[in-house]
Amino acid sequence: MSEIEYIELRTVLDSRGNPTVEADVYVEDGFGRFSAPSGASRGKNEVVPFPKGGVEEGIEFFMDNVLEELVGMDGAYQEEVDSLLKEVDGTPNFSKMGGNVAVAVSVALAKAVADARDLPLFRYIGGLLNPSIPYPFGNVLGGGKHAVGGTVIQEFLSIALEGDAFERIYANALVHREVKEALKKRFPDAAIGKGDEGAWTAKLSDEEALSIVKGAVEKVSDDMGLRMAVGLDLAASEFYRKGRYHYSDRSLSPEEQIYFVAELVDRYSLYSVEDPLQEEDFKGFAQLTEEIGGRCLVIGDDLFVTNPGRLKKGIEMGAANAVLVKLNQIGTLTDTLRTVKLAHSAGYKTVVSHRSGETEDPTIAHLAVGVGALGIKTGAVGGERTAKLNELVRIEEEL
Ligand code: PGA
Ligand code: ZN
Repeated sequence: MSEIEYIELRTVLDSRGNPTVEADVYVEDGFGRFSAPSGASRGKNEVVPFPKGGVEEGIEFFMDNVLEELVGMDGAYQEEVDSLLKEVDGTPNFSKMGGNVAVAVSVALAKAVADARDLPLFRYIGGLLNPSIPYPFGNVLGGGKHAVGGTVIQEFLSIALEGDAFERIYANALVHREVKEALKKRFPDAAIGKGDEGAWTAKLSDEEALSIVKGAVEKVSDDMGLRMAVGLDLAASEFYRKGRYHYSDRSLSPEEQIYFVAELVDRYSLYSVEDPLQEEDFKGFAQLTEEIGGRCLVIGDDLFVTNPGRLKKGIEMGAANAVLVKLNQIGTLTDTLRTVKLAHSAGYKTVVSHRSGETEDPTIAHLAVGVGALGIKTGAVGGERTAKLNELVRIEEEL
């Protein structure tokens, strides 16, 4: 028994300088802390991060309505605690408590119980006999909602597919550096900036950006002797309006978009394409997966929003072959694990992901290893990103 003794919530900053919530959970002989991140290109079907009145209103709701119910419960019954959080909130999308308040408590609780048992979180979550280090997906160049004046496609990612944990994360960091060198050459007189996740941003067309990242990945891959690849997160809902996908120089119909993405996959040997179509187009996703799913990951982020119900529909329709996993899209650890389990049982791959507004919390590294995810998408550089990447190095040591 790991009796819940007390829970404290506080408002802290995320990496964009916005308020977010941090939870401290005390159980008998154990302590856990988790702070919740926040997205900018959020899916329409995610739970809401905070109630209308913001972080403070969410914390107040929790203190007034939930705390008393949880104190004295056995913290090892994660599912019961998570059901109670949903029940007391009483809305389908955590609009009273805020999904970020729920997720902070839910994950901090698991960390507290793991601590009481003297286990690292990845062991407590997974109990896997042979856990392995996931491939890091590092955003090195981008735009969309994460950067002013950048590319239309949100993220161009470097993916290290070989090496130990440090070699993999270092390879992505070197690609990030190579991209800077390429941008300096391309824009000798212009200032070059970074977006919210630390990826470079510049006034480039999407195809120019892709060829710069492809070149950088090939160079680092050769230099280090590691297999590497390029991935995209199009975040296509963000540039879909009135039935068309709007690029800087043209707009595409859904049919043309499918053709365009399939062509990019072949031309650049892409390893993954995330959200290549808008978040309600399950059919279009299925069509694209049919075409390229044999040679490329088709990842649903805004499409599935880590929601087991939406994933189930997607699996039935053959809408993708991989799912992005973000704890605060669904609000509890239990539902997140449910989604992962469902994905793996259908042969879908999983990629555990950060949000664009992050905290220095390293926990998602444990989630990724614990569930046996194929990948972890958590940036390439920057303190709130390297917090997770460096944790992978420590976890590998423990393995
Ligand atoms: P976010 O988006 O800004 O909502 O965190 C990141 C992503 O689309 O993967
Ligand atoms: Zn995404």
